[in-house]
Amino acid sequence: MSAHPISGLPEQVTIWEVGPRDGLQNEKAIVNVATKADFVRRLLATGLPVVEATSFVHPKWVPQLADAAELMTLLDNPELPVLVPNERGLDRALELGLKHIAIFGSATETFAQRNLNRGLDEQFAMFAPTVRRARDAGMDVRAYVSMCFGDPWEGDVPVDQVVGVGKRLFDLGASQLSLGDTIGVGTAGHVKELIGAFAAAGLGTGHLAVHFHDTYGQALANAYAALEMGITTFDASAGGLGGCPYAESATGNLATEDLVWMLDGLGIAHGVDLPALVATSTWMAGHLGRPSPSRVVNALAPNDNA
Ligand code: HMG
Ligand code: MG
Repeated sequence: MSAHPISGLPEQVTIWEVGPRDGLQNEKAIVNVATKADFVRRLLATGLPVVEATSFVHPKWVPQLADAAELMTLLDNPELPVLVPNERGLDRALELGLKHIAIFGSATETFAQRNLNRGLDEQFAMFAPTVRRARDAGMDVRAYVSMCFGDPWEGDVPVDQVVGVGKRLFDLGASQLSLGDTIGVGTAGHVKELIGAFAAAGLGTGHLAVHFHDTYGQALANAYAALEMGITTFDASAGGLGGCPYAESATGNLATEDLVWMLDGLGIAHGVDLPALVATSTWMAGHLGRPSPSRVVNALAPNDNA
């Protein structure tokens, strides 16, 4: 495909692949650990610079990822980031010598209760010692903030509320804040407004990532809006796998292939081998027994996509 750049956009971006974590955490089928390890290895082999591998959460809350320790032992790669909500999760990550964790806070009271069994304010008491101990151990910490654009129980979420929670999470000692549209209701103008509000509050694009789910088909438009604002880290999920087990209306993430296709068209460097990625997603679709929802996967591999 020939590139047709648009001036003013970043020349290069980082894709933060979340398929093995955000994708597989929400699949009904529990994928066996050897297949998960192959999935992560194959994703890394496509050139993806970051692959978020799993979560050290309570196994009863997310049984799909109960094999987190076994997976990380098999992979033997301490650079791969994992989700950690609390000190118990951190202890499990430290035992394995991992170097990158991500905490995940909520911009709303209801989702904090449902996802973390804590109130909005209580969540900080859980995260603060977790981040402090992680940083003391030399780990890098990413922070997610969920429900940035709307919440299934509370409806609209005020921008000021999102910025307040996001800044508090970041200021605990994170290196990056990922803005989550957990249920995919955001639209392009809202994305620009939120990123602008973070910049006005002193948290600029260099420290922000965007994490779009595609429930309403807006994820790619939202990614483009974020590009226009100067964002250079984009979360995406191979084949569009994903969702959130504690937010029923959430569907898959922005498909990595769809993002890559747009970036290629714009001539923006990302380092990912698209055919290898499509082959990986169709292979995983076969394991899951359902086709990938990615438009690009369906266009490039219509016969292989289970
Ligand atoms: P809790 O039940 O309140 O935990 O769960 P607790 O602190 O009261 O402890 C109860 C028991 O659980 C104790 O065991 C702990 O040791 C154990 P006992 O002493 O009774 O035998 N425990 C653990 N075991 C293993 N690993 C742990 C752990 N923590 C406690 N880490 C907790 C609180 C936060 C743990 C729970 O609510 C939980 O695991 N939540 C995770 C939910 C989740 O993973 N959601 C999906 C990820 S978020 C997401 O997808 C959004 C995102 O993609 C961005 C976006 O889209 O917006 C990131
Ligand atoms: Mg998510």
